[in-house]
Amino acid sequence: MKNSVIVSGGFGFLGSHLVDEYLKQGYQVVAVDNFCTGSRANQDEFKKEIAEDRLKAVEADVSQSWTPWLNSIQNLAPVKYIFHFASPASPPHYQKLGLETLAVNSVGLGHALAAADEHKARVVFASTSEIYGDPSVSPQPETYWGNVNSFGVRSCYDEAKRFGEALIYTHNLKHNTHHGLVRIFNTYGPRMNPADGRVIINLLMQAEKREPLTIYGNGEQTRSFCYVDDLIAGIIGYAQSHWTTPMNLGNDHEFSINQLAETIQSIYPDRQLEVRHLPLPQDDPQQRKPDLTLAREHLTPWTPKIQLREGLLKMRACL
Ligand SMILES: NC(=O)c1ccc[n+]([C@@H]2O[C@H](COP(=O)([O-])OP(=O)(O)OC[C@H]3O[C@@H](n4cnc5c(N)ncnc54)[C@H](O)[C@@H]3O)[C@@H](O)[C@H]2O)c1
Repeated sequence: MKNSVIVSGGFGFLGSHLVDEYLKQGYQVVAVDNFCTGSRANQDEFKKEIAEDRLKAVEADVSQSWTPWLNSIQNLAPVKYIFHFASPASPPHYQKLGLETLAVNSVGLGHALAAADEHKARVVFASTSEIYGDPSVSPQPETYWGNVNSFGVRSCYDEAKRFGEALIYTHNLKHNTHHGLVRIFNTYGPRMNPADGRVIINLLMQAEKREPLTIYGNGEQTRSFCYVDDLIAGIIGYAQSHWTTPMNLGNDHEFSINQLAETIQSIYPDRQLEVRHLPLPQDDPQQRKPDLTLAREHLTPWTPKIQLREGLLKMRACL
């Protein structure tokens, strides 16, 4: 076994795909999760790897000290990376778990950094496009500072991620370390929690059940959607690099929510789906599109390859 990789939030949507990828590459993997939004069904997909001891599954709250569970792992190969991906991620989840969201991206990240320094590993923190808030420039480059409400329904998530970024910056400066972070734009794919309320899984589940598609506001707000395989390739490329400053990862094809609903209708040609409009939630961003210049230049040959319709078809096949 070459090295090990620790993934916090390892049985959530993105974490489980990182676990998959590093297992394929022959790493020993430690996935730690408290299942507050993740799924035991995701863990069950790895029964074989857990039985073979290639994957160590730890149930713990990563906002608490990591020492008890980390020290109890037998035969841990040298740790190369710690991916700190634990955090409620969808608005319904982080609004219900607001204090936990603040804790895991601050105190929890602090534990990840301490563990990484002890094991001479590199942390990659899952930051988000939400740090740009409701942006006044589009596409958003990493140099844009954002337009964020620090005192509102989304602030427990947006500001927690901004704090996490500041913690990485300051920790690197003070301890001469090389931890980094990726700013992830809306990503979708298999193993998303069907109940987590994010737009693609929401609309797909409604289409599956022949229910009306819910669109908030007039549906002209835009998002750019990245298929999970493209994102994971970018995260792995970033981890391998010496990059410590923020890097956007996602897909830069921008769609309105109305166009997304039309695309979903097109992959269900056997049914006519109605659309139901609901009021726009507070602080909902009007546009979201990454400037991917940095990632394309520095993670070469990375670029998102899977476009929306193809990705939706792949995801539908796994529902
Ligand atoms: N999916 C996206 O489009 C997206 C976009 C931007 C940023 N992100 C970030 O990527 C990360 C993963 O998001 P996701 O979409 O996979 O969400 P998810 O909810 O599917 O996964 C998060 C996982 O973290 C676990 N978790 C949360 N708090 C924990 C704690 N205190 N201790 C241990 N485990 C805990 C949850 O149980 C879950 O398994 C998050 O940090 C999120 O903010 C995701």
